[in-house]
Amino acid sequence: MNVLIIGSGGREHALCWAIAKSPSLGKLFCAPGNGGIESLAECVSLDAGNHRAVVDFCKENQIQLVVIGPEDPLADGLGDDLRQAGIPVFGPSAAGARLEASKGFMKDLCAANNIPTASYARFNQQAPAEAWVRDHGAPIVVKADGLAAGKGVTVAETVDEAITAIGEIFDGRFGKAGNEVVIEEFLVGEEASFFVLSDGKTAVPLATAQDHKRAFDNDEGPNTGGMGAYSPAPVMTEPMIARTMIEIINPTLAAMKAAGTPFEGILYAGLMITDEGPKLIEYNVRFGDPECQVLAMRLKSDLLEILAATSENRLSPDMVEWHDDAAITVVMATKGYPGAYEKGSHIGGIEDTGDDVVIFHAGTKRDGDTILANGGRVLAITARGKSVRAARDLAYARIAEIDWRQGFYRNDIGWRAIQREEAEQND
Ligand code: AMP
Ligand code: GLY
Repeated sequence: MNVLIIGSGGREHALCWAIAKSPSLGKLFCAPGNGGIESLAECVSLDAGNHRAVVDFCKENQIQLVVIGPEDPLADGLGDDLRQAGIPVFGPSAAGARLEASKGFMKDLCAANNIPTASYARFNQQAPAEAWVRDHGAPIVVKADGLAAGKGVTVAETVDEAITAIGEIFDGRFGKAGNEVVIEEFLVGEEASFFVLSDGKTAVPLATAQDHKRAFDNDEGPNTGGMGAYSPAPVMTEPMIARTMIEIINPTLAAMKAAGTPFEGILYAGLMITDEGPKLIEYNVRFGDPECQVLAMRLKSDLLEILAATSENRLSPDMVEWHDDAAITVVMATKGYPGAYEKGSHIGGIEDTGDDVVIFHAGTKRDGDTILANGGRVLAITARGKSVRAARDLAYARIAEIDWRQGFYRNDIGWRAIQREEAEQND
């Protein structure tokens, strides 16, 4: 089977790495890919916004499955246009992608189906939004309705901070993603990421993970796309997974089906595990980055077979098996990220070192025999071990061998799980 993967991040490198192991794979292409993906796939410079060009490429190269990594092309209907042209796709339609692309749509769906989530209000005018915030007080959460590359959310500690965030959104900071504002109750608890595959008929829960969004140790500094992750997330016990399926995932999938837009692809639920149980913070309609890197390390089954089965509506739970091991990924980013940073610094010491530690590339570029930093998040050092601590030790030992002066990383990835592991040992 010839496969095209759309995207250029650590997530797409992990997808390529897992798919490259499949005996069913013919030729693997990635558009646009990165310096690490080049060793697994033919990287092609296709504009994902030009659907006609993508369709033509697929026809010329007999592509039998397109895997769309990021949310923007999904929300933009790339999946719909490919399917229309008879090309199988892993990833939802634009209608399905609204679960991520419009927070207002997602919240209304929750309200209509009694899905536990933070209470909320939607506004397309500034004054009533501000009045609502003054009425409810802080802490409170302000969100731009549309896709804002993870930057559209402000968890406001004070009313003033919330009012400033509302002003910025209506002043156009996020373009048309900010035509509407969603204001939410502040939820208290532990966050977890939960992944479910759906082919429109069958839903299969995948693994759980936890990511670290803040840039610096001790969860300090600005929010990022994710500075590291581990899997499984201990807070997601079997009973908690069962509750999440019954209370959140199944009613969502049923509502999408009833609306005539069954969800096909991966549904990533950002959860807050509160004293009252799981509550939905947000949906994403794609794999998480860097969560995908840890899932890929733990997956025992053939990923290509699973993604193809999803796209052909023949998914079944027995297709998905996991290693019992834990996995962790530590992101190395260019100094300055998530603010301004320089590109082009030289990275050494990142050669392959076996199956227990894998270095996935995100923002890298190959220049002859050397690898140069070419983005904010640059590498994801990913390891598997009998415990989160064992995996963590392997990942950090590998990082110590990397020669990249312009890079930084967090030293405390996995701390919550490791604390739990230690508490259990001492019991
Ligand atoms: P989102 O982009 O919606 O995932 O939000 C980014 C981050 O903001 C989440 O991972 C949470 O840490 C935080 N957040 C979002 N909504 C809420 C909420 N209602 N209560 C508490 N924290 C939230
Ligand atoms: N790591 C968070 C995300 O992929 O949205």
